[in-house]
Amino acid sequence: MENIKHLGIIMDGNRRWAEKASLQRFKGHDIGAEVFVNTCDWCIKEKIEYLTVYAFSTENWKRTKEEIVHIFKLLEKFFTEKIDLCIERGIKIKVIGERDNLAKKDILIIENAEKQTEICKNLKVQIALSYGGRNEIIRAVKKIAGDVLSTKILIKNIDEDIFEQYLDTAGIPDVDLVIRTGGAENRRLSNFLPWQTVYSELYFSEILWPDFSKDEFDKALTYYHSVPHKAGK
Ligand code: IPE
Ligand code: IPE
Ligand code: MG
Repeated sequence: MENIKHLGIIMDGNRRWAEKASLQRFKGHDIGAEVFVNTCDWCIKEKIEYLTVYAFSTENWKRTKEEIVHIFKLLEKFFTEKIDLCIERGIKIKVIGERDNLAKKDILIIENAEKQTEICKNLKVQIALSYGGRNEIIRAVKKIAGDVLSTKILIKNIDEDIFEQYLDTAGIPDVDLVIRTGGAENRRLSNFLPWQTVYSELYFSEILWPDFSKDEFDKALTYYHSVPHKAGK
């Protein structure tokens, strides 16, 4: 049985969870952050090497200022308060996405978290923040164009392997399984890792992200192991 090397998770359904539980509007985001920490532990136990989680998309900038401020406060809290725990558990943090759109202080907090966890080896976690797959591809194209202009690479040599090196996920294997929580009404990828998921298996969970449990995590893995992985053959 082939192990999952790279798991992607679209952590959706936080606001619906809060609404259902008649709690404050953004309470689901808060609980969701805790669930994310637990999920890292489950991945380590399963010997999954890479976990990429979708935390905030380029499209999510269209949300209300109130919600955006709340989400970024939560992220700041995570990047400062949970870093020691990440180091203790061997979790390496890398943030992917359009960094230019982030506040200066958030960029510094992120850089610090990345630096402090640089040598961690148990699980490599990519947090997709201000991330959109189309935006990632456009940024990659711009970088390649720059390298062509400076004759660092020749146009005729650009192939899939070279292009991959210009993506935010350079050097990371393609995603084996994507889990999207949040119910059957959202069977889509919403701009999550389009290059890296062309052959991923997809598991859509009815569970809203704050309720995501070890049991549901195991179900997704069981699903992955139950389907044949014969892409293109
Ligand atoms: C996903 O949960 C998290 C973010 C986009 C920040 P949502 O906030 O989209 O929650 P629902 O899907 O509206 O319930
Ligand atoms: C996807 O959820 C993005 C994140 C989980 C961060 P959304 O709620 O933003 O996606 P749509 O709007 O349902 O496509
Ligand atoms: Mg949503």
